[in-house]
Amino acid sequence: MSSSMVTVTRAMEYLASRNRLFYQISAQYYKSIVANEIKLAGITERDHVLCIGGGPCPFTGILFHHLTKARVTVVDNDYSSVVCSRQLLKTLGLDRNIKVLFADGNSIEADGYSVVHFALQVCPLEEVFRELERRCRRGTRMLVRLPKRTLKSLYSHGSGEFFNQCEQIVHSRSRNTASTALYIKAGSNYEKSNSICSVNSTAWYSHAAV
Ligand SMILES: C[S@@+](CC[C@H](N)C(=O)[O-])C[C@H]1O[C@@H](n2cnc3c(N)ncnc32)[C@H](O)[C@@H]1O
Repeated sequence: MSSSMVTVTRAMEYLASRNRLFYQISAQYYKSIVANEIKLAGITERDHVLCIGGGPCPFTGILFHHLTKARVTVVDNDYSSVVCSRQLLKTLGLDRNIKVLFADGNSIEADGYSVVHFALQVCPLEEVFRELERRCRRGTRMLVRLPKRTLKSLYSHGSGEFFNQCEQIVHSRSRNTASTALYIKAGSNYEKSNSICSVNSTAWYSHAAV
């Protein structure tokens, strides 16, 4: 089911990458979400943001850069999306500030980034989150988009119980993304386990803004 959601989103993004009006309308959908996320994580031009899951039209990465001037790297494990987004960024004159890598979120070296962002469609979310949390440096702010309760079955978010413990910003009701959770890596004793929900010590993660 979750893959059909990715397929639908991708199809709309291919259209947006070819049609300027549709691009502008679609970008509006993301604008308030990204503005909220910037506020939640205190993102500035000094940050380097890693976006997991950019699709053919990496709206989130583009808006992070436009709204803060931060450097952005986008990762996607779908090659056609990577080719399309690189072409789009070139057309928009943003290819020097926003890089696109063809890779799975699981395999990224994350220690060079101060912010890691997870798109709603990242799959399998818990696994990719766990791996990147292990790889990123202390103080890294991790932003995870969470779906509306009624749409949960369409995404690979499991119970989402763990993220409920994090500080969150709530988005407009008209969005599929209900909220974004902020997790800040504060220690090195992250325990590998089958479920991130077993991570329950507040001593080594902080919800405070950096
Ligand atoms: C269609 S996009 C939507 C994101 C939207 N364009 C944005 O800017 O926020 C979601 C993308 O996430 C990618 N994706 C899902 N799981 C992934 C993973 N584990 N690693 C890398 N990319 C992933 C999919 O290939 C898909 O292209």
